[in-house]
Amino acid sequence: MKKILVIGSTGQIGSELTMKLRSVYQPGNVVAGYIPGAEPKGELAESGPKEVVDITNAQQIADVVRRYDIDAIYNLAALLSAVAERKPLLAWHIGIDGLINVLEVARENECSVFTPSSIGSFGPNAPKDGTPQDTIQQPRTIYGVTKVTGELLSNYYFMRYGVDTRSVRFPGLISYVTPPGGGTTDYAVDIYYSAVRGEKFRCPIKGGTFMDMMYMPDALRAAIEIMEANPDKLHHRNSFNIASMSFDPEIIYRSIKRYVPDFEMIYDIDELRQGIAESWPNSLDDTCARIEWGWKPEYNLDTMTRHMLEKLRIKFAQEDKQA
Ligand code: SER
Repeated sequence: MKKILVIGSTGQIGSELTMKLRSVYQPGNVVAGYIPGAEPKGELAESGPKEVVDITNAQQIADVVRRYDIDAIYNLAALLSAVAERKPLLAWHIGIDGLINVLEVARENECSVFTPSSIGSFGPNAPKDGTPQDTIQQPRTIYGVTKVTGELLSNYYFMRYGVDTRSVRFPGLISYVTPPGGGTTDYAVDIYYSAVRGEKFRCPIKGGTFMDMMYMPDALRAAIEIMEANPDKLHHRNSFNIASMSFDPEIIYRSIKRYVPDFEMIYDIDELRQGIAESWPNSLDDTCARIEWGWKPEYNLDTMTRHMLEKLRIKFAQEDKQA
């Protein structure tokens, strides 16, 4: 069975993807890589191996890959878009110097590599609605610059050295498990927390600003399915547009209000995030992913809202009991 290293296993995606990979490939075959200060906790720590793997330290990656005889690396180390704007050099160092470390280790040890890209890899001059798979990618954010560069580097390592690199462009990801930190799409997670806590939500993004979003279970499935896809059918690799829903703050607010009638939202715009959001697409066209590897989302806004509200209520009740 495949042996997998997850770099960034305690982050927004990693904390759930590592557990999902352990359920698919058996817990002992999935190593949770983390940096000191962000140690795995609870089930993530107890259910399988864990190792310190700093993406900026090539030797550390190589040591773990050799020791565990790793076949596939899920590279999830990154700064999200708004944080990256505040620390552009660090965003580049993690996103690109780190990626080169991963790709070199993968080349030497014959590993496949998954490195997520994002809706942020597009800029204001890409078509806004139904943004095609292959189109202009001139992002204005350092986050987007690292994502486009990452896509190109990953394709280069495939073409030049045959490293099996694959990727998807994630939309904003919504989950009740690990909150995101410093992304532009975070509001679509925070709004559910406010609704369940009975608080008024202060929305940092203007009404009418549409972005692609996805419920985490679909995103996790996409990350595994693209890595399991038949390579003969892949005309693209880095990176595939994937999509499931696109909405603006008013639409998600109304979706929640159907189940939480007293819920209130006011606007308190964060100019940095608003500027980033306006430079991104409204919605991506994911036809290539559907044709080349059978991508299909399962959740829509309503099913996600019901699931999020139910799971957050349970989570808060458990926290209250422990307090
Ligand atoms: N969720 C990311 C962000 O907002 C976009 O990929 O930064």
